[in-house]
Amino acid sequence: MAVESWTVPTPVKDLAALVDEPPSRFVQREEHRPGSLMLAADMPDPLPIVDLNKLSTADEAAKLRSALQTWGLFLATNHGIDASLMEDLMEASREFFHQPLQERQKYSNLREGTRFQLEGYGSDPVVAQDHILDWNDRLQLKVEPEDERSLAQWPKYPESFRDLLHEYASKTKSMRDRILRAMAKILELDEEEFIKQLGASPQAYARFNYYPPCPRPELVLGIKAHSDGPVLTVLLVDREVGGLQVQRENTWFNVPFVPHTLVINLGDSLEIMSNGIFKSPVHRVVTNAEKERISLAMLYAVERDNVLQPAAGLLDEKRPARYRRITEADFLEGVKEHFSKGIRMIETLK
Ligand code: SIN
Ligand code: FE2
Repeated sequence: MAVESWTVPTPVKDLAALVDEPPSRFVQREEHRPGSLMLAADMPDPLPIVDLNKLSTADEAAKLRSALQTWGLFLATNHGIDASLMEDLMEASREFFHQPLQERQKYSNLREGTRFQLEGYGSDPVVAQDHILDWNDRLQLKVEPEDERSLAQWPKYPESFRDLLHEYASKTKSMRDRILRAMAKILELDEEEFIKQLGASPQAYARFNYYPPCPRPELVLGIKAHSDGPVLTVLLVDREVGGLQVQRENTWFNVPFVPHTLVINLGDSLEIMSNGIFKSPVHRVVTNAEKERISLAMLYAVERDNVLQPAAGLLDEKRPARYRRITEADFLEGVKEHFSKGIRMIETLK
């Protein structure tokens, strides 16, 4: 559904080049400000690095279970994606974001100047006058189902961009399935349970994030606190800039950067499918004054018309469903509407 945008935002990259102070529309209310990056704690029990080649072993499965029940995210290694592909794709993204404004705007996510569409380059939809903006520009592209890709929205420059994204997306898709099988097994469900729940043509989006340096990083957020609505996010971060933080028991923790690993982040849809046994983490991104940061989130969802619900094998008289039933489409629409207000849609289903 189209969301009306009340003005045409200048990409943050171009704004940042002009100002010494972030404009008031970007300044977070006191209670949401990041404070000093130094204040965010390092993790007490470090984020597990899960070896995807060893998921069939009891030790690795136990590591995965504990990660999903506590942090809701983990780092994946031996994921089957070449380091060179990851580096080349990040470099291609950097080249896209470094182009002059005029070139980037050819892929604008605003139709006729103001009407927002999900795919394309720009900011997230601006849904209200008092909506505090994130210090982030993003390029969002539909990658699944493959026959629904609108290639006209995929950057032509750099020339390698489309092929790299195509190759990367096919690898992360099979990773999604490996991880979903391991998750179902941990819960003693049929291995295919979660994959079946995705439906015949589940959707996926690639979201490239660009965070320019911010002259007053203590006032803004790169992305405000949220949990991801879909099933699973595979996150690629290009360099050791830092900035991703995850919340646990009212404390923000820095997510470490480990080269060539991927951050796997559980989404709300999977929290529902696991009847709350697995947690979808609240996370945010803080900025800094010196370095730009680029990341790529592959967001894997359930087929739009499918109903989100806990797996039947997890329910009995003692363990009733903890969430109201809703279609994936309605759920994700709700996530979008609630995002700017800082409300998690999943909380409204309890
Ligand atoms: C996101 O939460 O979608 C982005 C995370 C990141 O840039 O690290
Ligand atoms: Fe996220």
